[in-house]
Amino acid sequence: MSIKFDVRTSPQAWTQAAADIVCQTVRDNERPVLVLPTGGTPVPMYAELVRRYRAGEISFQKVTSFNLDEYVGLERSHPESYYSFMHRNFFDAVDVPAENIHLPDGRSAHPDEACAAYNAMLDEVGAVDLAVLGIGHNGHIGFNEPGADPAGRTHCETLSLQTRQANARFFEDDLDKVPTHALTMGLGDILKAKKILLLANGEAKAAIIRKAFQGPVTREVPCSLLQNHPNVVVLLDEGAASLLEKA
Ligand code: GLP
Repeated sequence: MSIKFDVRTSPQAWTQAAADIVCQTVRDNERPVLVLPTGGTPVPMYAELVRRYRAGEISFQKVTSFNLDEYVGLERSHPESYYSFMHRNFFDAVDVPAENIHLPDGRSAHPDEACAAYNAMLDEVGAVDLAVLGIGHNGHIGFNEPGADPAGRTHCETLSLQTRQANARFFEDDLDKVPTHALTMGLGDILKAKKILLLANGEAKAAIIRKAFQGPVTREVPCSLLQNHPNVVVLLDEGAASLLEKA
């Protein structure tokens, strides 16, 4: 197993470490291809990347990005669409060319066609240099819920009640407002990335971090499949690392 745990003791150090890995990938590759996450966890990382861009320390002009997932049925202009999230937190403030930004089209009346189109774009770009991931409380990555096909590609996923409850905080705590489906890159797409950075913070993630990385590899815990990937950094704060057994 080539998982590297990196446990940081301050939020600032954690944020710097996340931004460092993204910037390193951007600098090391002529045409860097990134897979990017949403959720609460990566927000400080995006803020730090924006800060570095504004300070002239990094440019994202050569970057091509693919977001992991998008809700089905939300207009792009909805404040909680991942399209809005990404533009608000990152794209509007940096220099990734608009034509290089990709998110699955959750508004499409034909989700299967939207997924096929996304897969075609992924195929066209070839290898992903870095996939940055968060983790759901049930071990989902992107929106690949427990049981998802380990070789799967971009598809429409039915969101579990637990996932919708966790995300209700973004929808005025009203479960009825949380979409029931999402388009997500598949585990097969994610696992093909050359490098993976998994981000988690806080004690609420401690149990799933232990299960994912020190438990059996099983499709019931999608994140556990990362144990078979050759190049994974798991960046944690002390809370999220608190249940890991020391090696
Ligand atoms: C969402 C996203 C995931 C994300 C996860 C954790 O459902 N689809 O990509 O990793 O939830 O989110 P948070 O960082 O807010 O805990």
